[in-house]
Amino acid sequence: MEAPVNLLFSDFGLYLKTLEVFLEHSTEHQCTKKFIDENLPDFVASIGEKGAFCLNVLGVGSGSGEMDFEILSKIQSQHPGLPIHNEVVELLPQQISKYKDLVKEKGQGLNISFTWNQLSSEEYVKQNKERKESKKFDFIHMIQMLYYVESIHDTIKYFHSLLETNGKMLIIYNPDDTRLRSLSSQLADNHFLPDVQKVLDELRMKYQIYKLSFDMDITECFIVMWLV
Ligand SMILES: C[S@@+](CC[C@H](N)C(=O)[O-])C[C@H]1O[C@@H](n2cnc3c(N)ncnc32)[C@H](O)[C@@H]1O
Repeated sequence: MEAPVNLLFSDFGLYLKTLEVFLEHSTEHQCTKKFIDENLPDFVASIGEKGAFCLNVLGVGSGSGEMDFEILSKIQSQHPGLPIHNEVVELLPQQISKYKDLVKEKGQGLNISFTWNQLSSEEYVKQNKERKESKKFDFIHMIQMLYYVESIHDTIKYFHSLLETNGKMLIIYNPDDTRLRSLSSQLADNHFLPDVQKVLDELRMKYQIYKLSFDMDITECFIVMWLV
């Protein structure tokens, strides 16, 4: 299947602007935060190997880090006293720079260290394979980023293989049948993407599904400007 061409790869600046407007006018981040607040504490309570002195977390396609920060603080509160090492894989330098600003602003007092990889997930995989090393993680998340990868199947398969025995992975993804998905097609013009659930079944992975719904205010699209 041919790789999708979308705004992210044709114009970074416009992609980031579109993403900003999308987040401003949708309740996506609020709903994700609510999901994290309500469900993540139980979900992450069992991560971590026996006797471990640190928890390793990997964010793939972390963006500017707001959702990552919510996740990290929930993990920290479930495992008080245990340091966290958080590795970030994010394609765009502008996003990493915003994430670093967020760490400066909110990270004081948290026992969290960071490794920044300004890379695509594909480059990260390639780099690991070339070095013949692949670090293991207690928690891996891919939030609203699978639309952009070369192969959803290979991405899920590879990152799942990096999980520790008690490790868990969180994927947040809009299925193809949502109206929001068609509205946001400027962000990811790849309507033929496979269904993540189908991929998980093909890979015979055990998973749990939570349905989140969020909406978008498109009133501004109907405002007509009269220039005289
Ligand atoms: C829609 S944003 C989601 C950001 C963040 N996870 C959130 O929920 O706020 C998608 C992010 O994934 C990044 N991205 C896209 N393709 C990527 C890839 N192959 N590897 C790593 N990051 C990628 C983009 O630069 C962007 O910051």
